[in-house]
Amino acid sequence: MNTLIPTQDLDLLLKQAEALLEGEKDKIANMANLSALVYHSIPDLNWVGFYIYKDRELVLGPFQGLPACVRLQLNKGVCGTSASLRMTLNVPDVHAFEGHVACDSASNSECVVPIYFIDELYGVFDVDSPIVNRFDKELQKFLEDIGSLFIKTYE
Ligand code: SME
Repeated sequence: MNTLIPTQDLDLLLKQAEALLEGEKDKIANMANLSALVYHSIPDLNWVGFYIYKDRELVLGPFQGLPACVRLQLNKGVCGTSASLRMTLNVPDVHAFEGHVACDSASNSECVVPIYFIDELYGVFDVDSPIVNRFDKELQKFLEDIGSLFIKTYE
């Protein structure tokens, strides 16, 4: 409902993402490029980035947007809950999500995709929007595809 570009364009964007990662295994570079591609291609997003699982915390990785919280706890907030439950959390109104960690006061909705390599938690892909209910099913699927594409580079 709130996707401002057609699915066909999301397909094209996914192909651009595949091309960006083609032959490149450096995870930082790939997370940086994926964040930039999504942030600059999809309207009405204020934060796009990765948190990487280290020493039982989620630590800020490559992102686009304002400076953000560096460390997030598992089981807490949208990111930590998504990582723990191993499921995408599509939150239409972050203010109604108990425990939401407000890094950017502009965020009103959020979609977090957990990134697992087989059974091992790698991190999460986190996307925020200033618009309530920004992430419809097509956009959620696209963000999940970006997460899957990224983890394919895992060695
Ligand atoms: N809102 C997230 C924290 C990360 S920021 O959105 C960049 C959460 O509740 O986990």
